[in-house]
Amino acid sequence: MESKHAHRKDEHVSLAQKYYANAHSVDPFEQVKIIHRSLPELQLNDVSLQTNIGAKLRLQRPFYIEAMTGGSEKTGELNRQLAHLAAKHHLAMASGSQSIAIKEPAVKNSFAIIRKENPTGIVFANLGADSSVAQAKQAIAMLNADALQLHVNVAQELIMPEGDRNFKWRENIKTLVAAIDIPIIVKEVGFGMGQETFQELIDLGVKYVDVSGRGGTNFAQIENRRNHDNQFDDLDYWGQSTPESLLEGKQYRQQLAILASGGVTTPIDVIKCGMLGAKAVGVAGYFLHVLVTDGIDELDRVLSNWETEIQRLLLLCGVTNFQDLINVPYVLSAELLNYVNQRKLM
Ligand code: FNR
Repeated sequence: MESKHAHRKDEHVSLAQKYYANAHSVDPFEQVKIIHRSLPELQLNDVSLQTNIGAKLRLQRPFYIEAMTGGSEKTGELNRQLAHLAAKHHLAMASGSQSIAIKEPAVKNSFAIIRKENPTGIVFANLGADSSVAQAKQAIAMLNADALQLHVNVAQELIMPEGDRNFKWRENIKTLVAAIDIPIIVKEVGFGMGQETFQELIDLGVKYVDVSGRGGTNFAQIENRRNHDNQFDDLDYWGQSTPESLLEGKQYRQQLAILASGGVTTPIDVIKCGMLGAKAVGVAGYFLHVLVTDGIDELDRVLSNWETEIQRLLLLCGVTNFQDLINVPYVLSAELLNYVNQRKLM
């Protein structure tokens, strides 16, 4: 018999699937238009897929498998399959929250499998922002991790009847950043970030963020469906989209390495994130959807396609690497431009 925590992990996967297709009516990436180059003056071999997130993190590919799961037998198997593909395609991969494995050591293997399947790749550990230094060290050791994601999920917790109600996290984040010697990435879970949050994180010593914006997996919807008698439906459209969050981060690019995730389902979305300042791009719900619906061979094929297409799209944009995308011209939709003007982001 699995614990109620393990059951919750299974429910997250099945509900993320169930509501995958209709999570949002509008695709926020359609609000960004790339300007085509007819004379890029490059050859495909010139184009590299590597990207540097920071001095200590060099990724072979500009997209990675974002934090999702672990904590039950079923989700351990999903982690094994995802890690196998991460190794094969040279993708970084983030673990789902490991706090369950710290409380219930019996489920540790459903996370440790990520490193076992991918001994030399880049792996991110994952815990909540209220974790202690000792817990952080345990989570990192469990995966021999290259970085630690600290998820900040206030909206999600507030929807869950059993969720946290104390969100005084800042001092703890500061302590963790000072005590842990691998990069710490402060990460949202699909609600995005704004200038105020970036500034607060910089003040705490944070150097890496993952904006994880609205537009893809919607934890407000998932948690509301999970708790049948819950009444916090108002959050279904809460938060900043991924393009909005990246534009919010524009003036902080020198101080923060900004990663993007949230609603990324195509190679063009990855390119648009790069144009808006992301150093790498995480994909959760879409890859999970392909894996669960169509199987590991289909996800394998999709990942090969993404590698090929992203290299070609970089060439089409006239650049030889992902980081140079920030120089590529783009046009925003009237609605997004209105947002940018009101928030004074340009
Ligand atoms: C998640 N996500 C997540 N994030 C995190 O930091 N720790 C976690 O344990 C989980 N768990 C989790 C489970 C499932 C089933 C999904 C689909 C997602 C959030 C994820 O990393 C990401 O921030 C959001 O899903 C937005 O990205 P997508 O799904 O729109 O690509």
